[in-house]
Amino acid sequence: MKKTLAVIVPTYNEKENVSLLVERVAAALAKVDYEILFVDDNSRDGTADEINKLAAKYPVRVMVRKDKRGLASAVVDGIKQSDSEFVIVMDADLQHPPAVLTPLFAALQTTDFVMGSRYAQGGSPGDWTLGRKIVSFVANLLALPLLPKVKDRVSGLFGFRRAALDVTTLSPVGWKIGLEIAVRGKYKTMTEVPYTFSPRARGASKLSRKIIWQYVQQLVNLYLAKYQILNFMIVGGLGFIVNILILNALIKWPPAPWFTVKGSFLGTEYYLLPFFLSSLVAIIFNYLLNKYWTFKGWTEKKLGGLRYFVMAGATLLLDMLALWAFVRFGKIPPVPAAALAILLVFIVRFLIARKWVWAEN
Ligand code: GDD
Ligand code: MN
Repeated sequence: MKKTLAVIVPTYNEKENVSLLVERVAAALAKVDYEILFVDDNSRDGTADEINKLAAKYPVRVMVRKDKRGLASAVVDGIKQSDSEFVIVMDADLQHPPAVLTPLFAALQTTDFVMGSRYAQGGSPGDWTLGRKIVSFVANLLALPLLPKVKDRVSGLFGFRRAALDVTTLSPVGWKIGLEIAVRGKYKTMTEVPYTFSPRARGASKLSRKIIWQYVQQLVNLYLAKYQILNFMIVGGLGFIVNILILNALIKWPPAPWFTVKGSFLGTEYYLLPFFLSSLVAIIFNYLLNKYWTFKGWTEKKLGGLRYFVMAGATLLLDMLALWAFVRFGKIPPVPAAALAILLVFIVRFLIARKWVWAEN
């Protein structure tokens, strides 16, 4: 039956913590129709058995994953396996004080995404070793442009309105699933609720070097998803390399003697035909990469391919015009002028592709 709230708790060897957690969550959510769904990765300490005992008295259940490991993917599986209007995710080890669920749930009534925050007014990161503080500070800073309005971007405690999130957009690697859900969901409103990160009740943290490396991968994916222009830039850069390599090859190894020999065919402008061909290949290459990568999930407008070619051709002329204008009237030397022209036209190109070739669904 559909609940108002599902509390998702990933567990790995948390047998000693779950009963106190369940008791305190029950106290914090006394007025709410909720369930706790534990997602356990086959802990060897009997966490799942302990939870099953609690199910006699509390609205809790456990899903045990035998073939998978990982905090983020456990949270996502828990979200998929539950059905409720609201979702809250928290750790099992009581470092997220259960009492904070009362204000967090209250905030969810008016806000689509609520981050539990150690850095908001009234919150605190608690007693941490200096090393762990630095790791957390840097991790938080690296995500700043992704969630500028949130102070604690790497918290493991958060809640959201389920309807605002499409779970299929998530790529659950590593730990920072709160950041992933905050960035990929479509929320109209976002806020933070302060909490103090308590010392771990029992057991040990599972943070490792591998988790940190996975965070870097996650950041790359999130930045590319949020700032589509970065994808477009990478495609543009690759297209440039393709263009130059082909041009070089055609001039070095022409397919026919008349093709690039100085004096024959196009005379001293012998390089124009190879350049035209290499540019054509680069444009096709860029079009395909943009279609299947940059604008993946977007709809291509009618005659999108043709539109792209018209856009690429027209902007190439614009590029040359800008270069000429910068040199002639701006008195800028040709090389920096070309760089400026490329950058300027690049942004125009991106905007045209976004408005005229593809459209967001
Ligand atoms: N299912 C599952 N699978 N659960 C896991 C796994 C796993 O592979 N690894 C860890 N967990 C569970 C733990 O049992 C605990 O409930 C929770 O995820 C957090 O793990 P800890 O090992 O206690 O992490 P931490 O305290 O070092 O860091 C936590 O707090 C930080 C600050 O809020 C995490 O939530 C971080 O993501 C967060 O930044
Ligand atoms: Mn912990």
